[in-house]
Amino acid sequence: MNQDLLSELAAIVSPSQVLTGEDAAGYAIDWRKLFPGKPLCVVRPGSTEEVAAVVRACVKHGAGIVPQSGNTGLAGGAVPDSSGAQVVLSLSRMNRIRAIDPVGMTLCAEAGVILQTAKEAAAEKGRFLPISLAAEGSAMLGGVIATNAGGINVLRYGMTRALVLGLEVVLPNGEVLDLQRSLRKDNAGYDLKQLFIGAEGTLGIVTAATLRLVPQQRNTLTALMAVESPQAALALLARAQTELGDNISAFELISGISLGLVEQHFGLKSPLQGGNWFVLMEAASTLPGLRDVAEEMLGAALEAGEAVDGVIAESGAQAASLWALREHITEAEGRAGKGAKHDISVPLIEIPAFLAAAEEALAPTPGLILNVFGHLGDGNLHYNVVMPKTADSEAINRLVHDVVARFGGSISAEHGIGQYRVGELARLRAPNELALAQALKGLIDPEGIMNPGKVLARRGGP
Ligand code: FAD
Ligand code: MLT
Ligand code: ZN
Repeated sequence: MNQDLLSELAAIVSPSQVLTGEDAAGYAIDWRKLFPGKPLCVVRPGSTEEVAAVVRACVKHGAGIVPQSGNTGLAGGAVPDSSGAQVVLSLSRMNRIRAIDPVGMTLCAEAGVILQTAKEAAAEKGRFLPISLAAEGSAMLGGVIATNAGGINVLRYGMTRALVLGLEVVLPNGEVLDLQRSLRKDNAGYDLKQLFIGAEGTLGIVTAATLRLVPQQRNTLTALMAVESPQAALALLARAQTELGDNISAFELISGISLGLVEQHFGLKSPLQGGNWFVLMEAASTLPGLRDVAEEMLGAALEAGEAVDGVIAESGAQAASLWALREHITEAEGRAGKGAKHDISVPLIEIPAFLAAAEEALAPTPGLILNVFGHLGDGNLHYNVVMPKTADSEAINRLVHDVVARFGGSISAEHGIGQYRVGELARLRAPNELALAQALKGLIDPEGIMNPGKVLARRGGP
């Protein structure tokens, strides 16, 4: 039966686009190397029609399908289980930009276009695709949409969902659902595309999308500020919001420990040495004058004690070197050892109390390094814990998530549930919310073939 499916897939996409054994190895394990899987094969369709035909073949043979784009996801959502029966459907060959409209400010592209490539294409037309993540050189639009990715620009432009105008999806029965409208206003019935954004491949396969662009900013200011506490960082944020308003395009909190890991594992040195907390802020505008206002604002923050030291980038290269400190944290953490990731959000005002309570909850566990950083402007922190090999990472997850629940927060602000957090979602979400989600899954994917066991606990199916 598996051999029959392999032959049918080869007939659809050509034999060279069906990978097995060693050729499939790179697609079988996630970026963190936490979830090694074993696929029946990896299939690489080159068009929407081929994706639809692959899905129909998998339905016929009862094989689970795992969509994969750049495989940079941090929740193990894009890799197969160890059964040897699931088909990884890679979107990597669907990498055409279909159109860019600089006046309507839209970009229409296939799911396998690398985020950075899409951003560069928009920039050539004087437009900006405001989704910025350290993984943008590998993450692809399909994965970015399927995870409703966040990143550093969310506080100004919203999550990916806010930027998706249209979507083309292959449903679990192999039908193509064409929701590729590029309208800014469209209240004609249910907004079905929202179902697939952030569904992590459990409801269908995104094959193309139309994304909203914004004007490319001409003037940018990047500053690294040392602050005495997360409370002070919030005071600095409030001041920046008052003085710079919507021009703030990033406001990241970074712990001294995070910068220490980056220096230790990559030799990148912060220009501000010592101190427990830092803010990396970016403001951008199409209009002149931003720098003067921002410099005045930061000077006032220093006088008020909201910041205790700071450096403003004097060139693009200096700004890039400040951002390099931030962008290397995740890889430095990976090199530091075994880790438990907590991609949490709480109401902004609760951040200092959350941090104190989480530290207290973890204090009895010896040998932990708290690598805390993240998107403070969105109330989203990566409360990551590097731990000794023998430590029980699931117990640590539960301790942190219980604190998150106490503060009315979320256990995944931007990375998603994948397979990493399925148990924790089931433990902490209200039963009626989970039941409605299962009912929707059953309606759209009655055979349970789309990314089985991700986001929601598996209920029958392959
Ligand atoms: P993949 O890893 O391939 O897939 C992710 C999920 O989407 C899986 O469940 C997969 O099955 C599903 N999927 C993939 N393609 C499709 C498709 N075409 N149709 C349907 N389902 C699909 N994330 C953030 O949100 N913010 C950050 O700041 C951020 N920073 C990161 C930094 C680093 C260094 C790394 C390694 C990761 C970071 N991430 C971040 C996580 C990751 O980059 C994002 O989740 C990204 O959106 C995943 O894109 P991808 O193409 O790699 O998706
Ligand atoms: C980031 O913001 O750099 C990633 O989302 C974080 C992570 O590694 O947890
Ligand atoms: Zn992040």
